[in-house]
Amino acid sequence: MTKAEAEAKILKLREEINEHNYKYYVLAKPTISDYDFDILLNELIELEKAFPDLITPDSPSQRVGGEITKQFPTVQHRSRMMSLSNTYSQKELQDFLSRVEKGLSSEGIESSGYVAELKYDGIAVSLIYKNGMLVQGATRGDGAQGDDITANLKTIPTIPLRIRHTENDPLSERLNHAEFEVRGEVFMTKDDFEKLNSERDEDEQFQNPRNATAGTLKQQDSREVARRRLTMVAYYLDGDSLGDSTHFERLGMLAKLGFHTGKATRLCQTHDEIFFYLAQWEQDRDSLPYEIDGAVIKLNNVRHQRLLGATSKSPRWAIAYKFAARRTETVLNNVIFQVGRIGTITPVAELEPVKLSGSTVSRSTLHNLDEIHRLDVRIGDTVTIEKSGDVIPKVVSVFVEKRPENAAPIEAPKTCPSCGTTLIRPENEVNLYCPNEAECPAQIKGRLVHFAARNAMAIDHLGEAIIEQLITEKLIHDPGDLYKLRKDDLTPLERFAEKSAQNLIDAIDQSKSRSYDRVIFALGIRHVGLSTARTLSREFPSLGALKSATIEELSETEDIGETIAHSISEYFVKPYAIDTLKKLESAGLQFHANIVKSTVSQTFKDEIVVFTGSLESLGRDEAKELVEARGGKVTGSVSKKTTLVVAGESAGSKLEKAQKLGIKIIDEETFHGLIKNA
Ligand code: IVH
Repeated sequence: MTKAEAEAKILKLREEINEHNYKYYVLAKPTISDYDFDILLNELIELEKAFPDLITPDSPSQRVGGEITKQFPTVQHRSRMMSLSNTYSQKELQDFLSRVEKGLSSEGIESSGYVAELKYDGIAVSLIYKNGMLVQGATRGDGAQGDDITANLKTIPTIPLRIRHTENDPLSERLNHAEFEVRGEVFMTKDDFEKLNSERDEDEQFQNPRNATAGTLKQQDSREVARRRLTMVAYYLDGDSLGDSTHFERLGMLAKLGFHTGKATRLCQTHDEIFFYLAQWEQDRDSLPYEIDGAVIKLNNVRHQRLLGATSKSPRWAIAYKFAARRTETVLNNVIFQVGRIGTITPVAELEPVKLSGSTVSRSTLHNLDEIHRLDVRIGDTVTIEKSGDVIPKVVSVFVEKRPENAAPIEAPKTCPSCGTTLIRPENEVNLYCPNEAECPAQIKGRLVHFAARNAMAIDHLGEAIIEQLITEKLIHDPGDLYKLRKDDLTPLERFAEKSAQNLIDAIDQSKSRSYDRVIFALGIRHVGLSTARTLSREFPSLGALKSATIEELSETEDIGETIAHSISEYFVKPYAIDTLKKLESAGLQFHANIVKSTVSQTFKDEIVVFTGSLESLGRDEAKELVEARGGKVTGSVSKKTTLVVAGESAGSKLEKAQKLGIKIIDEETFHGLIKNA
């Protein structure tokens, strides 16, 4: 391929990829499968590798991250990034509206309406575009200056690297040659937050999606940011060539340029419309996939906004209406101490059961001992608990005046509540730990739960209760024992019948095909989350290689610091780990990178497979993995190239199309048969 040809192809690919990105992330209406999207992106990456001087900063290939920032430079904002004043009552909001309208009428103007938006609970950022390209992204900082986090922000799919160009649209023509600023909120969905936490040690959990977002944006390695799936909603546009547009019109412009502007934004002409909007979202907030902490009411006319101006902290033309925090009072009956997988001791409050936003709460977290001291909470105290979003409720304050006379202070345990071993508190740490990692029942159970979890070995039918039962029956002690279980061990047990016993044995057996990186993660090595496990699987392609790596070799690996390196090398000399690994190896788990592809028979070689309808026993991702490991490709839509369609329950138009094209169609059971027989 000549350079000119490559350039033409690269430009075409970029345009296609940007368009698909926009359809997927902004419109939420994808027109191709993830698989086909990855093919396009890989093609672009390969071409750019061959012709590196054709790489541009706005290429979608740049979203995967890779840039390491040691220290984020400070940048000055074009104009102050102000915060909003808060109100908590309708009365205060009414006062705000009256103030605004009085302010305007003293200038002889009548209000031309408001815009109501959701108040996203994330981190505010500012983006600068020049000639249509993102050139700088920064945090709010102190409002006057913030941190330049451009490399990290570039990985966020809903932040356009180049604005979308609409043919014959004077606006995009103008903005393509101007400088403008976009502000918005970066956040993480509740699902992505849960997923991220499930990949981290118990003492490294983020407390809420907002903290997780803040922590992510401060990452030095932008590849890690890319992996964590942040998103952004834009709520502000300013620049020289915007004319006399209103705020609502500017949001429309932002949407045209390719930004996500939030679906719930409303133009309100009357106060009633504003109050209706607030009531509706206060009710429906849990239905959103992300957290909001209120709504924002803004004067729509930008010229009027400027007339009203701002105080030293916040604009006079906008206000945040905070929803009532979901909090309530109850009594703290007791505090128990839980032992986690890596031995962390966590205090848990046992509460007098109380109703809070739809559910009954009887337990809540107290985080750690420092938190208990900070709150000065005692047994018998009346406390306020608060729930934000779907996150576990927490104790936020204590009514000292309601304290009963005999209220007992909470004593830190000296010994492990699970095994009785004397606890330790490492220097500079807020947590107590149980050092008896080999034999502490709580840690043994914790390791097994982690091993079987969705994002680790994904062993179905092996939940916490079953694990507990199998431990009590002395059938298992570590993950290695799972693979020795036979059906006959299970059938005599309570809760097990012929069928359920077989299901569990099958599920354990299936887990043997989980990839090497998942195996590393499943071991539960301290500080080794899923992303570190992936890195390790790339750098050390077999468990043997990983085991014999020195601390120096480990810490030379990208993303692996001293702490992780020590933790890995300590793990492999622990007697219980050596024991477990021996059993896992002889069970035939994947101890090598990519081994799946070469040892599994290539049942689907050269097949192009489409799944349609709902599959009963498999997730889509899992089904895809199975096919790909066996030499096949999975695509999202049926075409002449499709060679096999797997039709699940209530398959629709894809099935019809396949029938028309005369493509081979099988049901889910047959699909399993093909996999098993091979
Ligand atoms: S407008 C001058 N709109 O709330 C107006 N802010 O205390 C600046 N926020 O720092 C902000 N959703 O982080 C605006 N729809 C929204 C918002 C929003 C969330 C955050 C933002 C800001 C803080 C204000």
